[in-house]
Amino acid sequence: MKKFLLILLSIMLIGCGTKTESHDESKEDINKEEESEMSETTQVVDEEKSEEIPAEILDFEDFNSIHVIINKKHELPEDYEPEDLVEPEVKKIRESCPMREEAAQALKEMFEAAAKDGLDLMLVSGYRSYSYQKGLFDNYVARDGEEAANRYSARPGQSEHQTGLAADLGTSDQACLLMGCFKDTEAGKWLAENSYLFGFVLRYPEEKEEVTGYIYEPWHFRYIGLEQAYLVHESGLTLEEYYDYMD
Ligand code: DAL
Ligand code: ZN
Repeated sequence: MKKFLLILLSIMLIGCGTKTESHDESKEDINKEEESEMSETTQVVDEEKSEEIPAEILDFEDFNSIHVIINKKHELPEDYEPEDLVEPEVKKIRESCPMREEAAQALKEMFEAAAKDGLDLMLVSGYRSYSYQKGLFDNYVARDGEEAANRYSARPGQSEHQTGLAADLGTSDQACLLMGCFKDTEAGKWLAENSYLFGFVLRYPEEKEEVTGYIYEPWHFRYIGLEQAYLVHESGLTLEEYYDYMD
């Protein structure tokens, strides 16, 4: 049944010409030879979820791809800055909190849906430059020491906030803002359950520090597009586990 739903959803999404498709220029250019070569490298999660991941989405190392994976082993260069940063049309903690255009649009749709459920979401952090991240990290190191800091904050170049695809979320009353207790708030629960419907995944789940490199962050969501968010959410795995992409 699960397999059937996955196949059906994939067909529906691909058939509708989703935002992910329309923004992924490489998809149309890919030729058959490349397709067959790449399909040999596609990942299979496990026997139960053995849907083949389309080869064209395996672009984790393309910094401009919405599927790029950034972690402690896969860094962004100091001068990387996305070219399509915009200000999301949502409630923000400060005037400027840019994100990549596609992610910003999805965020807006998610905030609108949450509002219909009575939630007043607020964007707390979006794109962060390498130098801004360096300042943050250095401050945390000064306060808590390097080892402790790197459990909750990324070194410059290692933060997916630099991709413009990550969002730290809270509510306008700032309850449990950037704190573990956010998971027990109505907003935290709603986001954990529904963010994949808008193309986001909870990036640093509970008890996955060994895999992601970071402690549980119930407020940090990463845009990866509708299809992949659905698949990753269904799997219950982290991005690294789902794509077997840590080393
Ligand atoms: N808090 C996350 C890991 C970051 O600094 O990007
Ligand atoms: Zn974050």
